[in-house]
Amino acid sequence: MDIACNLTHLIESRTLRDVVQKMPELSLHHLHSHRELRLARLALGIITMGYVWQEGQMAPAQVLPRNIAVPYCLLSQKLCLPPILVYADLVLANWKLKDPNGNIEVIFSLPGGETCSGFLIVSMLVEKAAGPGIMGALEVDRALKTSDISGIKEGLSKVTCALKSMKETFELMHCKFDIKLQWRNNPMLPNGLVYEDISDEPVLLSGGSAGQSSSIQCFDALLCVQHSDETAAFLAHIREYMPAPHQRLIHSLSGSLRDFIMSCSNPDLCRSYNSCITALLDLRNYHINTVAKYRLCTGGVGMALDSRGTGGSNIMGFLKTVRNNTQNALIAEPQEM
Ligand code: HEM
Repeated sequence: MDIACNLTHLIESRTLRDVVQKMPELSLHHLHSHRELRLARLALGIITMGYVWQEGQMAPAQVLPRNIAVPYCLLSQKLCLPPILVYADLVLANWKLKDPNGNIEVIFSLPGGETCSGFLIVSMLVEKAAGPGIMGALEVDRALKTSDISGIKEGLSKVTCALKSMKETFELMHCKFDIKLQWRNNPMLPNGLVYEDISDEPVLLSGGSAGQSSSIQCFDALLCVQHSDETAAFLAHIREYMPAPHQRLIHSLSGSLRDFIMSCSNPDLCRSYNSCITALLDLRNYHINTVAKYRLCTGGVGMALDSRGTGGSNIMGFLKTVRNNTQNALIAEPQEM
């Protein structure tokens, strides 16, 4: 915890690697609750990130020493997450209450000061805004099982409200975040990172990105937004970087809502569904504009990914395809009798 809390200073003074090399090998035995496990993973994840990139992009560490690699990999295995900092660490687990009024602050910051913390906090608030929508999605899912049309409509209206509130919250984002978070598509680590004493072979892993947000994929699943080919493959790849319960939730929500609504020919129900799709579309359009803005300003994407971070396809092309697929889910409203 001391090292993780002091990360920025240790990176700036270029002493982090020395400190990590002298660290005793940590045991997992003292970790009991899920919260402790997640906090430990977050701390080890950001120390690992700092260790690899301390000397900048041109000189990443190729090997993570065993005293951190072993506990990090064991812990990750226990939590069913890959041994790299993911969105569920850096955003979902990286906050604490600042005061009794509900204001929050990050637990660990990365170099970049307020800009970096601002990015993390706004992303976290976007997730918080998604919460009531996830509850709404569960209600829709339950109501669908008994063909309870008013239950479905109520649930859908919660999803729409949440999506609108996610967009409003996203509008607070005024910062870019420029830190390398991955060892995939990275020319300086062409084969990935070696986790010493875990394997002699380097491992290629994608790093944290808000693309790993489970809530958006939950809404896609509920609303039956269809993605095809490369886009679907990339979104499925992203899911491997989400906590297992989130993956299970997405899977459990993938169902037949859209077919059911089409078969009902109920104009009201159809409008409720289309309102959700429109709100998701607005959110994706806003996101695309934000990504475009940061790319224009910085010549990069302002995030953790290189310009081909989508596994070969170009980023804007990928985001627009996802947006167009969302639009294609709109249902033609039946005429009122
Ligand atoms: C300045 C802010 C942001 C930038 C520059 C940005 C950039 C990107 C980029 C480049 C991708 C392409 C996929 C990848 O390479 O990972 C992406 C995907 C994605 N981002 Fe963001 N992002 C930002 C904020 C957010 C926030 C706050 C959220 C929501 C919590 C979010 C949710 C997503 C999702 C869900 C995807 C997957 C594509 C989709 O489902 O539409 N992003 N983002």
